[in-house]
Amino acid sequence: MFTLPPLPYAKNALEPHITAHTLSFHYDKHHQTYVTNLNNLIANTDFAMLSLDDIIQKTAKLSEYTAIFNNAAQVWNHTFYWESMTPNGGGTPTNDLNDAITRDFGSFDAFRDTFKQAALTQFGSGWAWLVVAHDKTLKIVKTSNAECPITEGMTPLVTIDVWEHAYYLDFQNRRADYTETFLTSLINWHFAESNFEKAKAV
Ligand SMILES: [Fe+2]
Repeated sequence: MFTLPPLPYAKNALEPHITAHTLSFHYDKHHQTYVTNLNNLIANTDFAMLSLDDIIQKTAKLSEYTAIFNNAAQVWNHTFYWESMTPNGGGTPTNDLNDAITRDFGSFDAFRDTFKQAALTQFGSGWAWLVVAHDKTLKIVKTSNAECPITEGMTPLVTIDVWEHAYYLDFQNRRADYTETFLTSLINWHFAESNFEKAKAV
């Protein structure tokens, strides 16, 4: 049985950027529903013995397991998304990650533009990610619906949820404003740096 991981901050902690109203729906309803659905789908199956990561890897791209994959990956993605934001976030990363961003994107501003473009051009529901790719360089990728870069062997550093349920109550249809706010005021560079250090150690 999986349980909904605790939110790493109070529901009003991201205000005024993302309101407690949004987080109440997004965390208590959407994220909880993915957990509940996953538990129901894997009950009395071999998947019930596996970790969340293993379920995602074993069900990815297999049409007979689409429902299990979608719910498992959405549990994983949302837990990662909550950690990708922090009250008083934003700014720039430090040290090695800052150097790697400059190396692989040319500048921090170029990284920002690429990340925003990925978030904006993800058609319909999905996610934009900063990842460490196979060649150990940083890349920006976007994924549809529940798709997650770990199934492609990439290591996510930070993500933004661009499903409408993530921003519609606060930003209506203005995904560009939501993405700009995420980068300016919410992104958790400490979380990204810690994921980057782990990726380098592998
Ligand atoms: Fe979401």
